[in-house]
Amino acid sequence: MEVFGSLIFVPILLLFVFWSSIQLYAWRLRAANRARRQAVLSSLGFAHTESKQLVGFFHPYCNAGGGGELVLWTAIAALQRTEPDLVSVVYSGDIDATKEQILEKVKSRFDIALDASSLHFVFLQSRNMVEDSTWPRFTLLGQSLGSMYLAWEAMTKLIPDLYIDTMGYAFTFHVVSLLGHITVGAYVHYPTISTDMLARVKSRKKGHTNTDTISSSATLSQFKLLYYRLFMYHYALALQSASFIMVNSSWTKNHIDAILQHSDPILEFIHLLPPLSVIRFFKSSNPPKEARIVYPPCNTREMAKFPLEGRERVILSVAQFRPEKDHAAQLHAFHELLVAHPEYAQSDTTKSVKLVLVGGSRNAEDAARVDRLRALAKELGIETHVEFFVNASYPVMLSWLSRASVGLSTMVDEHFGINVVDFMAAGVIPVAHASGGPLKDIIVPFNGERTGYHAQTPVEFAGALQTVLSLLPEEDISLRRRARTWAVQRFSEDEFEKGWNASGWRDWLRSKK
Ligand SMILES: *[C@@H]1O[C@H](CO)[C@@H](O)[C@H](O)[C@H]1NC(C)=O
Ligand SMILES: *[C@@H]1O[C@H](CO)[C@@H](O)[C@H](O)[C@H]1NC(C)=O
Ligand SMILES: *[C@@H]1O[C@H](CO)[C@@H](O)[C@H](O)[C@H]1NC(C)=O
Repeated sequence: MEVFGSLIFVPILLLFVFWSSIQLYAWRLRAANRARRQAVLSSLGFAHTESKQLVGFFHPYCNAGGGGELVLWTAIAALQRTEPDLVSVVYSGDIDATKEQILEKVKSRFDIALDASSLHFVFLQSRNMVEDSTWPRFTLLGQSLGSMYLAWEAMTKLIPDLYIDTMGYAFTFHVVSLLGHITVGAYVHYPTISTDMLARVKSRKKGHTNTDTISSSATLSQFKLLYYRLFMYHYALALQSASFIMVNSSWTKNHIDAILQHSDPILEFIHLLPPLSVIRFFKSSNPPKEARIVYPPCNTREMAKFPLEGRERVILSVAQFRPEKDHAAQLHAFHELLVAHPEYAQSDTTKSVKLVLVGGSRNAEDAARVDRLRALAKELGIETHVEFFVNASYPVMLSWLSRASVGLSTMVDEHFGINVVDFMAAGVIPVAHASGGPLKDIIVPFNGERTGYHAQTPVEFAGALQTVLSLLPEEDISLRRRARTWAVQRFSEDEFEKGWNASGWRDWLRSKK
């Protein structure tokens, strides 16, 4: 009995000691933060008496200049414009760059002018903890633990009043709310792990995250399944501890919503036992039921000025020569079109139609793919009607966007499809594969009227191309205009700002005052 008693008592005592030490540590950190915060505000030139609140953006790769960074800087610019009493804090791992250099790059890369006086950078030394190369095995787990360490470093340097993760590091939420006692929110581009991945391991299928050796061994597969299940359970728990979640597309929303609803009763039960029961303290009392879609702003200013009239009979494809873009399907579709309408293949008539493929080639594999595509065009007998522009410059691409009639995109299950948005903004009528972003987010009816076409097989694609090429002049212009209006409006900075507003982040901040 005595032995049994101590078996229960000792872990509970240890748990209590552990938990109290963390709380004590967090309390001291928050106490010390008052001076740190004042120092930051003074360094920005604010007087002691001014009441400012700090909004923290966790974005360790803020100087990367990609799509995720465009979202970050656009959000901060909007915040600076509308909230003079807020100071933005960016947690960055770019220790080799200065604040001035980062702001300069934001200006040149995105044409966003930020106000340095209400923006502070907290530079983090341990970004290597979230790098792939640090964790050759158990990458997901390693990076997640690494991100918690990085968030700890962040909180020891400055605790904001509201914390927004814009890079998908959900495991930082626990650290931040535990140490800082602050509200946490997120803008998610991509789920860290998806229910599909879990299902794939379950069915022992091969995939890029599931190598041959593992799918062929039952024990390893079981082990991997447990690892994924545990990971998913904790990922869901982390997301549920946020107060608001924004996502960049329907695709990401579907995944994040599935994860928010995810339940694993067996793991749930195991986590009732100490010491695992600690984890239950993290659950938010009011977790978000679903994520809100806030589309990233697309820069369509230039393209939206192109004339809608006088388009050439050019079918345009803009896509890197990567395998998933499926350029071969474009050649097959075009071939079908020319077979059904031989008049399009006659040269020097007003009827003749041309296919133009513009795209980057990154490496030898891409270059070989381009060679195979040229060979395929020859084999199909359409090579005199097809032109390739490999590694074309931005102005060359813009020039084709200003002249083409139809835009072709054949990638299956594309998450978004920025090229399709570009087509529409430029006044090019899109014909895209009926899946992913082009189906759900982009080519959707506007005021009940169509903004483009979808297809799946080469014959369907050819049919859609033919439909566009034979539109009556008035229909043609009104479709181009509608597609442009829709794309420019839906993927504008204004819509983006409205989406952030609707997420309610201001209310969370005010409730803290
Ligand atoms: C959302 O983010 C993912 C990952 O970075 C990206 O592949 C996708 O294109 C993004 N979607 C939009 C609408 O920008
Ligand atoms: C395209 O650019 C890549 C990388 O910038 C380069 O390696 C490749 O040789 C270029 N290809 C052509 C055909 O210009
Ligand atoms: C977002 O909210 C702020 C503050 O209430 C307001 O100034 C701004 O105009 C809003 N933006 C949009 C696009 O509605």
